[in-house]
Amino acid sequence: MRKKIAAGNWKMNTTLDEGLKLASEVVHMAKDESLSETTIMMSVPYTHIESIKKTIGNATNVFIAAQNCHQELSGAYTGEISAAMLQNLGVDCVVLGHSERREYYKETYAELESKTQIVLKHQMTPIFCCGEKLATREENAHFDLVKEQLSSSLFELDAVEFAKVIIAYEPVWAIGTGVTASDEQAQEMHHFIRHTIAKNYSDSIAKQIPILYGGSVKPANAQTLFSCPDVDGGLIGGASMDAQGFIDIAKSF
Ligand code: PGA
Repeated sequence: MRKKIAAGNWKMNTTLDEGLKLASEVVHMAKDESLSETTIMMSVPYTHIESIKKTIGNATNVFIAAQNCHQELSGAYTGEISAAMLQNLGVDCVVLGHSERREYYKETYAELESKTQIVLKHQMTPIFCCGEKLATREENAHFDLVKEQLSSSLFELDAVEFAKVIIAYEPVWAIGTGVTASDEQAQEMHHFIRHTIAKNYSDSIAKQIPILYGGSVKPANAQTLFSCPDVDGGLIGGASMDAQGFIDIAKSF
């Protein structure tokens, strides 16, 4: 049985005060009996991590993620954050290769490969994002692109390391646009990703890797998306900024 995961991606939103309020509402609502088997994650700004860790306390189904980390261990990289710094704060997961990072900060396949490796070395779980822009889908090149994103940054990992990764498929045209991939489009790509993993590693690894869908997930569409056999949950941006809405999504499995 793969984990069911609802991961909120707060992006560059909330002050610490606002973030603490949101996190404490989420942690409170996550106590609901029906969520005991659901992994609830909040990917928060770095400045919030330490305080929100305290808010999470000993909740067993709530986890914390960072939104990026640098690919080098340490050094003269003004403004950057290292895997060791995140590990030291008790971060569970690190989102890597979000389309906004690829687009605005020109993150390359090679950098994302190093970031994934360094996150794993620091005993944290990478949430590796992939997904195509609209033009790529219109050219019917979306499968090739996603395969390239995975193979260029992940497939050098050995099987033991690769098996620790979470994948998030986020079609760029669905992020923050209100346009969601249809259930068929999501399932088709998730199935393709799992098949690609099976070919490069093994069926058993492919079966155990959680693959999240991201892109305008909301309480109204989460249930049908999450009922797709290869969709193991969501990476949720806008709708994770409201505790009740986010928890409603987490209850959609
Ligand atoms: P969205 O963002 O839910 O606001 O579309 C998803 C994401 O960027 O991870």
